[in-house]
Amino acid sequence: MSFELKRTHTCGELRAEHIGQTVRLNGWVDSWRDHGGLLFVDLRDRWGKTQLVFDPATYRAMFEAARRLRAEYVIAVEGEVVRRPEGTENPKIATGEVEVRVRRLEVLNASLTPPFEVSGEEPPGEEVRLRYRYLDLRRQPLQRALMLRHHLNRIIREYFNSLDFVEVETPILAKSTPEGARDFLVPSRLYPGHFYALPQSPQLFKQLLMIAGYDRYYQIARCFRDEDLRANRQPEFTQLDVEMSFVHRDDVLNVIEGLCYRLMKELKGIELSLPLPRLSYEEAVTRYGLDAPDLRFGLEIVEITDLAAESDFQVFRRVIDRGGRVRGLRAPNAAQRYSRKMLDELTEYVGQFGAKGLAWFRVEESGLGGPIAKNFSSSLQERIRERLRAEPGDLLLFVADTWEVTCAALGNLRKRLGTELELYDRSAFHISWVLDFPMFEWDEDEKRWTATHHPFTMPHVEDLDRLESDPGSVRAYAYDLIINGEEAGGGTIRCHDPDIQRRIFRVLSLSEEEIEEKFGFFVNALRYGTPPHGGIALGLDRIVMLLGGYQSIRDVIAFPKTQKGADLMLGAPSPVDDRQLRELHIRVVS
Ligand code: AMO
Ligand code: AMP
Repeated sequence: MSFELKRTHTCGELRAEHIGQTVRLNGWVDSWRDHGGLLFVDLRDRWGKTQLVFDPATYRAMFEAARRLRAEYVIAVEGEVVRRPEGTENPKIATGEVEVRVRRLEVLNASLTPPFEVSGEEPPGEEVRLRYRYLDLRRQPLQRALMLRHHLNRIIREYFNSLDFVEVETPILAKSTPEGARDFLVPSRLYPGHFYALPQSPQLFKQLLMIAGYDRYYQIARCFRDEDLRANRQPEFTQLDVEMSFVHRDDVLNVIEGLCYRLMKELKGIELSLPLPRLSYEEAVTRYGLDAPDLRFGLEIVEITDLAAESDFQVFRRVIDRGGRVRGLRAPNAAQRYSRKMLDELTEYVGQFGAKGLAWFRVEESGLGGPIAKNFSSSLQERIRERLRAEPGDLLLFVADTWEVTCAALGNLRKRLGTELELYDRSAFHISWVLDFPMFEWDEDEKRWTATHHPFTMPHVEDLDRLESDPGSVRAYAYDLIINGEEAGGGTIRCHDPDIQRRIFRVLSLSEEEIEEKFGFFVNALRYGTPPHGGIALGLDRIVMLLGGYQSIRDVIAFPKTQKGADLMLGAPSPVDDRQLRELHIRVVS
């Protein structure tokens, strides 16, 4: 069906220079107001809003039709651009100087009453937003997110193309990859009892492309992981996936730093200073407790094990006797801010990370205050104060436990204090690298070593002789990109030496059969002339979330899933009919 009043301008386009022109606009009714005879309608499209004025003096029948308009009706209008009467301009919108005096109206489509007000300031509940995602996507914050995402993709493509990278698409119907989360499986109709796995990342494909000689690859790739979801995770998400041949670690970091520079400059107007700060994993966990520290603020963890050993505080002494550590934080000016009840809450909070308690002092002019202070002599109190560079009014918080528990508990407490005490500027960005992750992690449940990043990573050359004797001490050429305390990306220099690769598999207790079954094709490919290579993948959803200041990655994905992996609009996942199951050789037992 055709319509008559096809637009001459968008709803975000008209300015004072258009005054006097006759224009046509198409769009959605955002809101309307009946003002003593005159009817005002805000017309919306993705470019903006324009105020329309309907005057009963122009044409009665049209005016009556305009009064029947409701929110989200789709209309086309023709009219004259006029200057808004003095005092009624709206400087908040780009078209705020003008309005369109409507002469012709065409109602293109009606709308049911929406379940929430699209133009409203208050965000509706998330469930209704997800169920009516097409209406949610009309809202400004989501439009802003998708536009930001679009620009990000554009800059990425321009940047990598300018550096002579090749964009290659890799399969979605694939086989298990080494990322280590649970796979999504797709049953095969033609091979009864066989399944494809959706890729957790294009990892093996991009390495195969290096073996094939493509040298520099990138892809904006969809990845699938059947993990327990949190606010910053989705079962399907997007990576900027990159791989390069004949490179050292710093070549990969430099390429990504160049991208960060462009993104910050073009999307945020911020001039990043390069090179980005680099911390080793060891330094990150020692100073900040976590491997993805938020460096928008200082607040470093300080060790007082030696001082605590001299005190009469049995809680500390017992932990130290068992080889544990006492470490803590100085919360600036927080002594009066945290009541006993709030300190109990903080104690409960660190408990989630394994801490058995939280010892605290208030720093006073004359020494340290609080219930446990009596166990510390005044000279010990003075030395603790000096060690933490504490000032009167500060609050000192300590955890006594194993190294790992003090890291996790204080690292997370530090993060919480950073927010609660407003220790950083919310509009600031801090981007940095964490390097030299351990190659292996001990899996207590399975009682074996697992690869921290993945098994195709190159161990540090100087640690190679400890590969078998002390795997826990071997560092990898691995790197994470951290933005404001979130892991935004990660990668490694790969192992291109078949002998070292075999030794890594042995440390991981993988049998020859397992290697053959899981990665046989890949290990075989490594023997056909593999160049030294390495790469990285950035989580695009997370980066858009961080750059746009959104709380959840669901806000930057057009059609996201809930925390429980459901699409409320589609009603997916859903049962399928018996015939389809039969074709796939599947019987459902519940
Ligand atoms: P990794 O598993 O660290 O590395 O993933 C890279 C980045 O992807 C993002 N990410 C996610 N984003 C949203 N939802 C998820 N469920 C999710 N999981 C990961 C994170 C993360 O930093 N193949 C390797 C990369 C390489 O070695 O080149 C890989 O996938 O921001
Ligand atoms: P208690 O003697 O168990 O009542 O503990 C006295 C104080 O020490 C309380 O504030 C506890 O939260 C704290 N505390 C107990 N265990 C630890 C620990 N392992 N590390 C730090 N503080 C602790």
